[in-house]
Amino acid sequence: MEKITTCVFDAYGTLFDVNAACLELSKEVGDKWKELSALWRLRQVEYTWLRNSMNEYIDFWKITSDALDYAMETLNIKNIKLRDDLLSLYLKLKSYPEVKLVLQKIRKMGLKTAILSNGNKKMLESAVTNANIKNLLDEVLSVDDCKVYKPASKVYDLVESKMGVKKENIIFFSSNAWDMHAASNYGFKTIWVNRFDGKLEKLPGKPHKIINSLEQIEKILKN
Ligand code: LAC
Repeated sequence: MEKITTCVFDAYGTLFDVNAACLELSKEVGDKWKELSALWRLRQVEYTWLRNSMNEYIDFWKITSDALDYAMETLNIKNIKLRDDLLSLYLKLKSYPEVKLVLQKIRKMGLKTAILSNGNKKMLESAVTNANIKNLLDEVLSVDDCKVYKPASKVYDLVESKMGVKKENIIFFSSNAWDMHAASNYGFKTIWVNRFDGKLEKLPGKPHKIINSLEQIEKILKN
């Protein structure tokens, strides 16, 4: 793809499986594990948007634990050990199966790779190390450096300010439709990784292409 020099990935839901923690402890959580996982994730992203509006930044680890507490309370799951175990697993979320190979292929094509995420540096470092992909990433960019969450444009600015790459040379991959819309609207070429069979949001910014998993990346980059 002409002009593209750098592939930038959202982390949670795109490279790392956000349902992996509840799935791993599904026996302990019981019937409600899918509901818990979905509500946890929903409140996690909602709290980032709400705190952006309130100018009340706290880091993503606190957001993640607050969201879990809310979800457990709502579903009437009272178990401190389970809460702590779920949070520990969030630091070691599995990557989706295709991730490693895809990053290797992108590198072989001579392109740079990076993560751009709401996650704090410690969470991202831990997930990247656990997935064994550290050596396949040129940069791991965290909102720790701008203290505001996506979809604020200051987050997308980090790619140029930290990597020196202009927005027209970037292709951005996210499974979160809202993140993809915002990144497109900002000026990145974007690919929506529609892992969960969702619908486009009624928001500004359109994806350049829609795929279901990162496996289809190579074809996109060659066209
Ligand atoms: C992230 C969230 C939005 O990694 O998935 O930034």
